[in-house]
Amino acid sequence: MSYFLGIDLGTSAVKCILVANDGAVKAGHSVEYPLLTPKPGWAEQNPEDWWTGTAACIRQLLDKAGVKGEDIAGVGLSGQMHGSVFLDKELQVVRPALLWCDQRTSEECDWIENTIGKARLGELTGNRALTGFTAPKVVWLRNQEPENYARVSHLMLPKDYVRLQLTDAFGMDVADASGTLLLDVAGRRWSEEVVGELGIPMEWLPPIFESNDVAGHITASAAAATGLAEGTPVVAGGGDQACGAVGVGVVKPGIASVALGTSGVVFVHDEEYQADPEQRLHSFCHGVPGKWHRMGVMLAAGGSFQWWKNHFSAEEKKQADAEGRDVYELLTELAEQAPLGSEGLLFAPYLTGERVPYPDPKARGGFIGLNIRHTKAHLTRAVMEGITFGLRDSLELVKESGAEITELRVNGGGARSPFWRQMIADIFGAPVVTVNSTDGPAYGAAVMAASGVLKRDTSELCEEWISVVTRCEPNPANQAAYEKVYKVYRTLYPVLKDTFHQLSDLAEDQA
Ligand code: XUL
Repeated sequence: MSYFLGIDLGTSAVKCILVANDGAVKAGHSVEYPLLTPKPGWAEQNPEDWWTGTAACIRQLLDKAGVKGEDIAGVGLSGQMHGSVFLDKELQVVRPALLWCDQRTSEECDWIENTIGKARLGELTGNRALTGFTAPKVVWLRNQEPENYARVSHLMLPKDYVRLQLTDAFGMDVADASGTLLLDVAGRRWSEEVVGELGIPMEWLPPIFESNDVAGHITASAAAATGLAEGTPVVAGGGDQACGAVGVGVVKPGIASVALGTSGVVFVHDEEYQADPEQRLHSFCHGVPGKWHRMGVMLAAGGSFQWWKNHFSAEEKKQADAEGRDVYELLTELAEQAPLGSEGLLFAPYLTGERVPYPDPKARGGFIGLNIRHTKAHLTRAVMEGITFGLRDSLELVKESGAEITELRVNGGGARSPFWRQMIADIFGAPVVTVNSTDGPAYGAAVMAASGVLKRDTSELCEEWISVVTRCEPNPANQAAYEKVYKVYRTLYPVLKDTFHQLSDLAEDQA
């Protein structure tokens, strides 16, 4: 039996899975690495940690599964998007990478939009300058750390750094490259105009591939580090959102995916390039060759729930440990004890600023509407509802463009809870399904590897390997009740924006 190795380089850990050539997952393993937050709003990681973690993860996975390196027919990589990896001419890391959730580049974003013009930037890239994207991070380095900037010879994204270690080959796929703000997304090539206007040397940028193109082969030293066989083909892969969508079969119009990871994403497939005229949604190349997608990204979806678990759920954690259960399961049971709408309590999920629909690094979170009757159950439910309303904001933008969504495929940690899935169906007013592949981006990366090595169409492989296993329909009474709460939720950010900004400035003064 031969296998495809899917690697997903996440923000907290790398996950590797082995997928057999009939699409079944044989085994999976993951290895964590640290996230550095040297200042409020900053988020960095050491690329070397990604490589050490990935090499260890592959070795341990092969051991655990009892699979030999020679049995791996191909490797695919998925990864956290937008992070800026700066390498010098000896291929040494110049400084820790600035990540997708790093918010330090507001001024650089303004500069980019003023230099190129917001409308022209939209025409050229389909997107606007957002703090998470890569180009503003490069400009920040030039402005703030000129000595580091002077050393840079190569710019790449997180998973492309890992591919470089595996294959000694430079490359980036169009899906992940879309999030750099340097790609002509419609033309699927670097935008010479944007790169030139920003003064970024073109020779820093790697060659561009489609996600299923073979972009290199495992070298002898990578084989020694990982247990893979020298010469194994490695495809370009994609950003985690494109891979996650492929991994749940969002490869045709009408189906949207809702990813509940640290960030939260609503993602739709487009047969043709389409851009939101106001660039509120991201317009990117898909991991399906020759196709595109649009998506809305909220920054703290699962991240908000994790914050709630980490700081306010010690009792549940203790109980979960004693009973050998998952703490999120207990928290979800607690939330179920509160009524729909949390009895007039709303949670604003902007704990790390926001991206869609409010591109605002200074947006902040909050519980609004607290009254003396509220208990922890209400607060827990409000957190889950606030996250889901935040995602609904992205779906509204998709619907505005005329796209008809008849099915939502959920993935990520939050997808495990039937209660949350029903909440999504009720708040979005559309059926929510789960599929047999639950490894999201890692599975999508393995599909891309199979597509490239077997020379099979990505969408056809998805049709063959991925099927729906659960489905929940919206409950009309709940849907109507949530509609009223959502209307109030929509008023929160515009009303609280100034307060959020003042509080964010105060917090910065104290840090
Ligand atoms: C997508 C995005 C996040 C990261 C998280 O635009 O910023 O989903 O890729 O891994």
